[in-house]
Amino acid sequence: MTIPLLFPMFGSEYLADPLVSSLGGERGHIEVRRFPDGESYLRYRSPLKDRSVILLAQLDHPDAKIVQLVFAVEAARELGAVSVGLVAPYLPYMRQDRRFHSGEAITSHSFASLLAMDFDWLVTIDPHIHRIQSLSEIYTIPTTVLHSARLIAQWINQSVENAVLIGPDEESRQWVSAVAKMANVDFFVLTKKRLGDHEVEISIPDIKRWSSHTPVIVDDIISTGQTMIETVHHLVSAGLCAPICIGIHGIFVDEAYHDLINAGTGRVVTCNTIRHETNVIDVSDLLAEGIRTHLSED
Ligand code: R5P
Repeated sequence: MTIPLLFPMFGSEYLADPLVSSLGGERGHIEVRRFPDGESYLRYRSPLKDRSVILLAQLDHPDAKIVQLVFAVEAARELGAVSVGLVAPYLPYMRQDRRFHSGEAITSHSFASLLAMDFDWLVTIDPHIHRIQSLSEIYTIPTTVLHSARLIAQWINQSVENAVLIGPDEESRQWVSAVAKMANVDFFVLTKKRLGDHEVEISIPDIKRWSSHTPVIVDDIISTGQTMIETVHHLVSAGLCAPICIGIHGIFVDEAYHDLINAGTGRVVTCNTIRHETNVIDVSDLLAEGIRTHLSED
């Protein structure tokens, strides 16, 4: 196995040192900037010849980053890297995996094709897999999907007394049920209807029996925060105490975080797949495990 050379991009520097030390690798430097007219300039400041290169990319708000990522992987190949892997702790473009209305682009597939053109492998954490069973249905390169459930369950066991877990919608069942099983606590799942990008409707069963518990809402993504906000409103109106909201990936569009706090949330907790003040659950060892499986093939 060659010593991997890891380049953090798009604000993922905070994960670089723990990964490099866990992998026994080296940290490289890539300069990325824009010309005054908005075009991108990239320059590797570390030699890549015959190296196993890892691009570590924080891919929330991805559109501005995708072009630079494609330039970076192509340049790495031209400069002699023997392999180039992508570590994207949060994998975007997972929602549109089907044509729901005529004429729509199936962006999950297009994004996957774009990454597969140049990367040798992909490591990610809890992608929003819903209608497909596995990333391999859309990604033609080897992919490793890591799961944060064990880390979230540990945090709940250490930090929350008498927890009951709540999944805000059917899609969250896969995450909330796994965490509940590992934490050995009860859970229930609500029903959500999405009315628009910023509007959701949540229906809730009779939950009086949980009134002495600490409600912990678990979902994969907090984006506009509306799913969590609606759920918090319902739980608080039903007489439960201020819920803890756990998101694996905290995107927090605009004022989402403050809106969620103002809605009556006790605490917001996220994994550090996207850097944010709510990061409490560290995924760096988990990522290192996933990366190692690809490096041993180099
Ligand atoms: C979709 O079902 C996801 O699991 C999340 O529930 C969704 O992305 C949350 O979005 P928002 O924060 O905008 O309600």
